[in-house]
Amino acid sequence: MKIEQHLFDEIYSFNKVVSTMNTAQKMIQNGDVNGNFLILANEQSNGKGRQAAGWFSPEGGLWFTMALYGLPLDSSLTIFTGIIIHQAILEMLPELEGRLKIKWPNDIMLDGKKLCGILTLHLGQKNYFLVGVGVDTNITEFGPDLSDIAISLKQSVGRDIEHEEFLNVLFHFYAEELPEFMDSRLRNYLEYYKEHCYLKGQQVLLSTEFESFNGRVQGINSKGALLLEIKDGMIQPFYSGSIEKIY
Ligand code: BTN
Repeated sequence: MKIEQHLFDEIYSFNKVVSTMNTAQKMIQNGDVNGNFLILANEQSNGKGRQAAGWFSPEGGLWFTMALYGLPLDSSLTIFTGIIIHQAILEMLPELEGRLKIKWPNDIMLDGKKLCGILTLHLGQKNYFLVGVGVDTNITEFGPDLSDIAISLKQSVGRDIEHEEFLNVLFHFYAEELPEFMDSRLRNYLEYYKEHCYLKGQQVLLSTEFESFNGRVQGINSKGALLLEIKDGMIQPFYSGSIEKIY
């Protein structure tokens, strides 16, 4: 695979790993790597999802971890990554405009089903942010547990997605937009987010570590917090949590 990009010092491609997150973490801990690097795998035997969930990672999908070194980043990086992936998919498949949405904090939904998940991990002591991305590009079979909630690009557009082309577009956009994101965080992406927000205007139940809140989604702020109108005119930002229900 030939990936033209200016973001990573090294790209490591594997056929099968346990999880690209583990591989990246181990390489950092062993001192085997410097600077930004990318771990790509055709298959993961034990892919990780958010909240200790697993992540179905057979051959056919795109599974990778971006390891970003020394950047003054924060958790809004997850949302930034979701926006850039959304833009890259639409650049390649403009026919999906209007059907491809971003679900806070970090899922990309296609026709109401999950297409892509993002997992970030901050290795503070090593000064690394790991951004794990799973995109269901060419998966044809999800099995009974997932087929109602997951979807692939191939299922949707009826043809294979070129991973090389996708990664070239994605990393080109990512490298181009990263300085802007570092400078003003999500400020210049709020309109884009609002336009493509899966939950916009919806009444949802959000669970945080301590409490649950009912509210209507108003978008996000420049730090990536979800803005919920929890009472008439009272909008509260939530920096973490998960959407438990959409009414
Ligand atoms: C989620 O739960 O939505 C996040 C899923 C993240 C999956 C990706 S696949 C590549 C990387 N390696 C992993 O083990 N997980 C992430």
